[in-house]
Amino acid sequence: MSTSWQKICYVSDIPVLGARVFTRPTGADIAIFRTSQDKVFAILDKCPHKGGPLSQGIVFGDKVACPLHNWNIELQNGCATAPDVGCSQTFQVHLDGGQIFLHSDEIRSLAIEP
Ligand code: FES
Repeated sequence: MSTSWQKICYVSDIPVLGARVFTRPTGADIAIFRTSQDKVFAILDKCPHKGGPLSQGIVFGDKVACPLHNWNIELQNGCATAPDVGCSQTFQVHLDGGQIFLHSDEIRSLAIEP
């Protein structure tokens, strides 16, 4: 089984408490978030509620508030906090030398349906 990681950008390319969008050849974009502690998370850029662009939300702690209806989504697992329910696809993140990598198999295969 081959393991291949695709370089996306540097952590420093993402503003603290901000996000950057990675556009895939197929499937919805991936939002890559940076927290105030420089933790990095990757989630499908579609809110589990009605598909709002999470990359445009406000990051606080390890959560992002969706810009459309303010659901709070846990960056770790892509799931809405109670009482809301639903999860967005998450992607593994690998950090090395200040650079962010996503797994090419996941980029290619996860949540690619429109
Ligand atoms: S689309 Fe995100 S809260 Fe409604």
